[in-house]
Amino acid sequence: MLPEFFEFYNPTKVVYQVGIATDLKPELDIIGKTKYFIISDHIIADLGLVDKVEAGLAEAGFEAVGRFLDVAQDARLNDVKKCADLVKASGAEGIISIGGGSVIDTAKAVNIMFSAGGDLVEDYSGAHTLTRPLNPHIVIPTTAGTGSEVTMVAVIYDEDNKEKLVFPDKYLLPNLAVLDPEMTLSLPPKMTAATGMDALTHAMEAYVGIQASPVSDVFAVGAIDLIMKNLVRAVEQGDDIEARGGMLIAATMAGISFTHSMCGVIHGMAHAVGAHFRVPHGVANGIFLPHGMEFNFEFIYEKLARLAPVMGEPAEGVAPEDAARNVIAAVRRLTSRLNELGALPIRLRDVGVPEDSLPLIAESALMDGSSFYNPRPMEDEAELLPFIQNAY
Ligand SMILES: [Fe+2]
Repeated sequence: MLPEFFEFYNPTKVVYQVGIATDLKPELDIIGKTKYFIISDHIIADLGLVDKVEAGLAEAGFEAVGRFLDVAQDARLNDVKKCADLVKASGAEGIISIGGGSVIDTAKAVNIMFSAGGDLVEDYSGAHTLTRPLNPHIVIPTTAGTGSEVTMVAVIYDEDNKEKLVFPDKYLLPNLAVLDPEMTLSLPPKMTAATGMDALTHAMEAYVGIQASPVSDVFAVGAIDLIMKNLVRAVEQGDDIEARGGMLIAATMAGISFTHSMCGVIHGMAHAVGAHFRVPHGVANGIFLPHGMEFNFEFIYEKLARLAPVMGEPAEGVAPEDAARNVIAAVRRLTSRLNELGALPIRLRDVGVPEDSLPLIAESALMDGSSFYNPRPMEDEAELLPFIQNAY
């Protein structure tokens, strides 16, 4: 069945090549600016990745006029303000962010203050408040998961008021996403597994989401296919450049799919345990994904069944309910394998969530923005409790 309406808007140019992060001249020539400010974090810098990109820029005649490496595990409002002041004073004409979701989201928010001026919270709270394009933002992801390089959202944590601020704006879509598998080679197995499960959850939730379209489906299915072929390989053999490349492309494709189709209650759950118990986002998604698919089963099985061939499951002559169950079983086999490799917890009890907090998680997840887009409508938190108990 076709959707009554859908929109597809993806102005971010995506380039992929082994080693391209140090050879950006052709792309930067098109953008037409020469002075860039680099935003990253100390882990990435200690791996030498910031120096590597800067050396490539210098060799090609571009200038890195400053760097900010103090991005914390969360993208934080105070860091955004500090960094924006540095960018403004540096004479930069554009921003290059090198990192995972927090670095990219920090850079998106910094670019608002750098390009449009004013106060981030006072002037730009709400959705689509920007009135014109920002300065160029080039993203070099160092994880394969968040998809932030192709999404229009920046999520920033306001540590003074202890709240998460969400800035959705089409002008936050980066100009260029540079996918270079060499930039992800140092990602440890646990981070590889967690961020990979985040990408898989983006694609799965987008595929069965209520705003899915034939266009978002193409990206979701493509991402799922690449993840099933490459995630275990990338965890087992971190220097497998092809597996790393497959995961990087998959995460970007999953990002394109969910920024159009949205996520659902599995992300609602992950946000809840992230906020209350600091469970890493990808780990939480890995734990909740199979249980969430079961929770939604009646509402998604017909579509889920179509994923059977992508998951290596038989499709012909198999009833849709059975094919859909096989898809969920394949996801479980994947998470179990990652668990055997010591790279991914698969139960909530193993990630520091106390059992008496399950009602609190249900309540938070129900109120989360992602849950509004869940294929199974939900009325109260009691409905969610069995789902969380299964994951516990
Ligand atoms: Fe996510």
